[in-house]
Amino acid sequence: MKIGIIGTGSIGSTLAKKFSVAGHQVKVTNTRDMATLKEIAAKLGAEPVTIEDLVKDVEVIIFSMPFKAYQDLPKHLLQDVSQEVIIIDTSNYYPFRDGKLPGLEGKAESEYISETLGRPVIKLFNNLMSNTLEQKGKVAGEEGRIAISVAGDNAEHKKIATKLVDQAGFDTVDGGSLAESWRQEPGTPAYCTELNAEELKHALSTAEKGKGPMARDAVMLKFQSLNSFPSHEETVAMNRSAASESLKQA
Ligand SMILES: NC(=O)c1ccc[n+]([C@@H]2O[C@H](COP(=O)([O-])OP(=O)(O)OC[C@H]3O[C@@H](n4cnc5c(N)ncnc54)[C@H](OP(=O)(O)O)[C@@H]3O)[C@@H](O)[C@H]2O)c1
Repeated sequence: MKIGIIGTGSIGSTLAKKFSVAGHQVKVTNTRDMATLKEIAAKLGAEPVTIEDLVKDVEVIIFSMPFKAYQDLPKHLLQDVSQEVIIIDTSNYYPFRDGKLPGLEGKAESEYISETLGRPVIKLFNNLMSNTLEQKGKVAGEEGRIAISVAGDNAEHKKIATKLVDQAGFDTVDGGSLAESWRQEPGTPAYCTELNAEELKHALSTAEKGKGPMARDAVMLKFQSLNSFPSHEETVAMNRSAASESLKQA
């Protein structure tokens, strides 16, 4: 497929590498000058392009940027992009990083992103850590394969997105509509907890609206209280425990 990735950070660069190795034609962009972008893209097996060129002649566009940065994108970026093009949003909202954003309250994070972009989006790759994405992929059917959820309103787009997830090394669970995508947001039992497909289905179904932000902020406080950076496994354990604690609270 022809895939454009906006953002070459931890998630965007890992996806670019994986999809180019899988044989897809990948273009990337970020905020750097073209000379720097060329060096980054060469390491990813991708073509460096401006953001305006990235959205042309592609079948999938993956936005993988900080949540607050979407508002800085060129206005009408997707105006001439066909509705058939799959738009994927990997973002998560963290108030300490992204600040208060007018219009976000009361919406699922990706509903807000969809409104900002003026297009329906598929929420995907938001609920696994970059280290998990890079290191823990397995081939289909292998014991202990981790699953992630895909949420959105276009069934055909979700089906194609699921194939990309498989090529990236993970199983997929349907996370429901975009309005329901709060079930895979930070602090929920489905968020960066490294579950298999059955466990993830259960996690999505047990999520309670409004509890995610509490657990998300509790994890951040815990991080700040530690003297050293936790290991990957400790972070997964913290995510699991904060989500389960939040569900016990009235
Ligand atoms: N890291 C994780 O474990 C993880 C896991 C799941 C989801 N996520 C979410 O996925 C998103 C990306 O995360 P990340 O960790 O990959 O972020 P990151 O490492 O900070 O990288 C962000 C990328 O976005 C680019 N960018 C920022 N503003 C831009 C703009 N206006 N136009 C084009 N590119 C722009 C940056 O460009 P420059 O390189 O030029 O600065 C950078 O390449 C975030 O919303 C994050 O919450 C992260």
